[in-house]
Amino acid sequence: MTDPTFSPTLLRDRRILITGGGTGLGRAMGERFLQLGARVIIASRREALLRTAADEMMAAHGGTVLPIACDVRDPEAVERMVATAWEHFDGIDGLVNNAAGNIASPTERLSHRAVDAVLGIVLHGSLYCTLALGKRWLAANRKGRVLSIVTTYAEGGSAYVVPSAAAKAGVLAMTRSLAVEWGPRGITCNAIAPGPFPTKGAWDRLLPDPSLLDAAIDRIPLRRPGALDELTSLAAFLLSDAAQYINGDCITIDGGEKLKGAGQFAWMGSLTPEQWAALEASARKAT
Ligand code: HXC
Ligand code: NAP
Repeated sequence: MTDPTFSPTLLRDRRILITGGGTGLGRAMGERFLQLGARVIIASRREALLRTAADEMMAAHGGTVLPIACDVRDPEAVERMVATAWEHFDGIDGLVNNAAGNIASPTERLSHRAVDAVLGIVLHGSLYCTLALGKRWLAANRKGRVLSIVTTYAEGGSAYVVPSAAAKAGVLAMTRSLAVEWGPRGITCNAIAPGPFPTKGAWDRLLPDPSLLDAAIDRIPLRRPGALDELTSLAAFLLSDAAQYINGDCITIDGGEKLKGAGQFAWMGSLTPEQWAALEASARKAT
């Protein structure tokens, strides 16, 4: 199929490693990158799932997908995974830190193991992967791109997903810090902050009930969740030559959801025409 947005050579010959690339947004990004000429490595815990995903992705789009089982919480496993991928493709050009875990819960109900699970996957996992690749890029004097998938609450925090909020804030801090530290040596670091995108992993865990989904969509000015191709377009652009000068930024893609929550008067979207008329009348009387 012809790509609706980009030239099919946008990512030609790029070798891109996607953690959590067998499901959800990670798999969608992998498929789009393949369509745009990249070779892709997908890494996560479930080996059988990864193998099936790789076969399906190659059957649908051609190209090469290398599946590697790896728990990103284990630094030695990350080192082995990156070494295998690097050797297989004679280098890697881009890393997408996409693997994540999240638990929606009143924070006082969480055990320390629950906290460790989320911080381990998101914060430690992203740092281990970034370091393993960054060291290789620096040693070989090669360029590299790091793209981390965070969340809209990475910046301002969020109740009820506290370990995830803390971990994603850390990944954002890593992104901005390394953009400055490694930028002069040819490595750029950016992030994407998605609003709600329908994936089984996120939906089943965080929005399993239709009423929860309705409440989530009601918060979005565009009144719908994001479409996968909207996110994959942004990711492909950020990994392409067109985005070479973007470094240390975090692009929000959420239909305006974050800003609606931020505006002190945003709740007024629910006022009726009669209430607006009454408000105007009192305001005019007051002047
Ligand atoms: C309280 C919970 C819990 C829950 C697990 N735990 N679920 N505590 N409420 N709902 C506790 C367990 O009891 C255990 O503590 C500890 O957490 C670790 O659980 P395990 O199941 O042993 O861990 P593990 O198998 O490593 O699983 C990690 C996980 C799981 C994070 C808990 O959910 C997972 O694998 N997630 C990966 C995929 C995912 O989360 N995708 C969604 C990403 S969406 P004890 O003390 O009992 O041993 C996202 C953005 C959201 O990040 C934005 C959406 C709009
Ligand atoms: P998902 O399908 O559940 O993706 C999570 C992926 O992480 C899975 O492929 C999982 O694979 C992998 N993973 C989990 N623990 C791992 C570990 N220890 N080691 C290696 N891989 C691990 O959910 P998603 O919605 O696509 O989320 C993808 C990214 O988008 C995440 O960073 C998430 O925070 C972010 N995000 C999503 C949304 C949304 O609305 N969907 C919104 C904002 C941000 P295994 O189970 O095989 O390990």
